Amino acid sequence: MSQITEIAPDVFKITTFISEENIQFNQFLVRDEEPLLYHTGMKGLFPTVKEAVGKLIDPTTIRWIGFSHFEADECGALREWQKIASDATAICSIVSKMVSVDDVVAERPARALEDGEVFVTGRFRFKFLQTPHVPHAWDAGHLFEENSGTLLCSDLFHQNGDVEAVTNSDIVSRFKEMLIEYQKGPFANYLPYTTKTEQILSRLADLKPKTIAPMHGSTYVGDGEYAIYDLAQAMKDVLAGSG
Ligand SMILES: [Fe+2]
Ligand SMILES: [Fe+2]
Repeated sequence: MSQITEIAPDVFKITTFISEENIQFNQFLVRDEEPLLYHTGMKGLFPTVKEAVGKLIDPTTIRWIGFSHFEADECGALREWQKIASDATAICSIVSKMVSVDDVVAERPARALEDGEVFVTGRFRFKFLQTPHVPHAWDAGHLFEENSGTLLCSDLFHQNGDVEAVTNSDIVSRFKEMLIEYQKGPFANYLPYTTKTEQILSRLADLKPKTIAPMHGSTYVGDGEYAIYDLAQAMKDVLAGSG
């Protein structure tokens, strides 16, 4: 049911398409001395994601479970993972740990990262950026893997449909289409556009990512700095002043 694609050496994308909602949910497994799973997906996805992870590593050896913000598709199955992987620890922002994760969903206390902190899993080095309300939620943050130049970008660059695993083509037009479509229904104002949005997106662009890995839709390989500025413009066009 889930598809596996290696988007960078030892960085795997696990994609599950939910046809009723016309949306893909992507998890990312980083195969390293201390394996990291980024986004657990909702509880209902746990069996298929576990099966996919099992094709890459022993799922009980997962050491870190990262996510951008507290939401079901980001960390809904955290407890399920922690029950089978005895050392699995959530890694998230200080706000996420203190405000939600430790109380609501974690089997054991999360490790909180400070803005700018570098977190090492072995060969891979992740820089953590605290990005409140980008893509959304007070506790939001982003992990950037410095060796491969991969930005794990959560709901930024969200594209609907059963799209290709990886692309070198523009994904911002699809992202903009999704925003326009969502503005017409119950998902309106999915992503806020605040006085801080542009500045936070500029910090992400300054990382000059080579690979952009969203939770929903295709991974983009190319000029990440340009793509993030393009995304910022799309957000401004659709969301600034709306609502
Ligand atoms: Fe989200
Ligand atoms: Fe999401």
